[in-house]
Amino acid sequence: MKNIAVIGAGTMGNGIAHTFAQYNYKVNLIDVSQASLDKGIATITKNLDRMLAKEKISEEEKQQTLSNISTFTNLEEGVKSTSLVLEAATENVDLKLKIFRDLDSFCDEDTILASNTSSISITKIAAVTKRPEKVIGMHFMNPVPIMKLVEIIKGYSTSEATFKTVEELSTKLKKVPVEVNDYPGFVANRILMPMINEAVETLYNGVAGVKEIDTVMMLGMAHPMGPLALADFIGLDVCLSILNVMYDGFKNPKYAPCPLLVNMVMAGKLGAKSGEGFYDYSQNRKAENVSSQFTK
Ligand SMILES: NC(=O)c1ccc[n+]([C@@H]2O[C@H](COP(=O)([O-])OP(=O)(O)OC[C@H]3O[C@@H](n4cnc5c(N)ncnc54)[C@H](O)[C@@H]3O)[C@@H](O)[C@H]2O)c1
Repeated sequence: MKNIAVIGAGTMGNGIAHTFAQYNYKVNLIDVSQASLDKGIATITKNLDRMLAKEKISEEEKQQTLSNISTFTNLEEGVKSTSLVLEAATENVDLKLKIFRDLDSFCDEDTILASNTSSISITKIAAVTKRPEKVIGMHFMNPVPIMKLVEIIKGYSTSEATFKTVEELSTKLKKVPVEVNDYPGFVANRILMPMINEAVETLYNGVAGVKEIDTVMMLGMAHPMGPLALADFIGLDVCLSILNVMYDGFKNPKYAPCPLLVNMVMAGKLGAKSGEGFYDYSQNRKAENVSSQFTK
């Protein structure tokens, strides 16, 4: 397996393309938006420059990595002659179902189709293709070049051969694969999101402020980052959508998103990417506490 395609050049897609290219896979990076592709390549270059400055890679390795990546805005052209397609487009079920229907008709019949979805059912995605045994979840963590974990999600029909291929591939990228079955939230988000939601609920109930809640979890539980800062980093819209998938999937009120989280997303306060979430990221004010606006 040498030629792969990555769909989506956003936060995760550019990190995934960077990682594969660094280990000498030929990567076709595909996005509907040329601006996203340009931004994705600029981000990869910036991250490689940072690695170069820290002497983790040489100038030659940087150039080699960049030359392994080609960009496309046309899906059919981008997936031609690839053995694996890794979809990392926007987290929207209808969008992903359309992409997988198209992939099934454009790709060679042996091509493995993987999704980086945080929460959408792999079984549901696989069901729109004629090759459900070759559809699998490959859930990388952000930032991809640094984080070791890959949650590998087996859909109801995913074959053992597909699982083994993707497991082996993950180790070739120096990642640690973990096998997980396909239920809402998989493992990572099933455990992480209720914790984030409870942190928001604690803030909403006025038990403590943003910094206080994050400090308790960092210094008391040795978490490298507080749950509210982490929610800002992931994106509050992403957190809300994952909680809703678990709420709908399990029909269990324990996954109901906190009304404060819902309000913040409706108000466009999505975290670091929008300039404000639980912390203020505008005008270079890094993570300033803005909790007083949100507590009851
Ligand atoms: N952000 C995270 O921390 C994180 C972590 C793990 C998994 N994920 C998952 O990774 C996926 C991507 O998330 P992200 O944070 O990178 O999103 P993002 O919004 O940063 O990027 C999504 C990209 O997909 C592109 N896109 C939209 N429709 C497309 C189409 N039809 N064809 C090709 N490209 C298309 C957009 O132009 C955009 O560049 C989602 O499924 C998300 O749940 C995200």
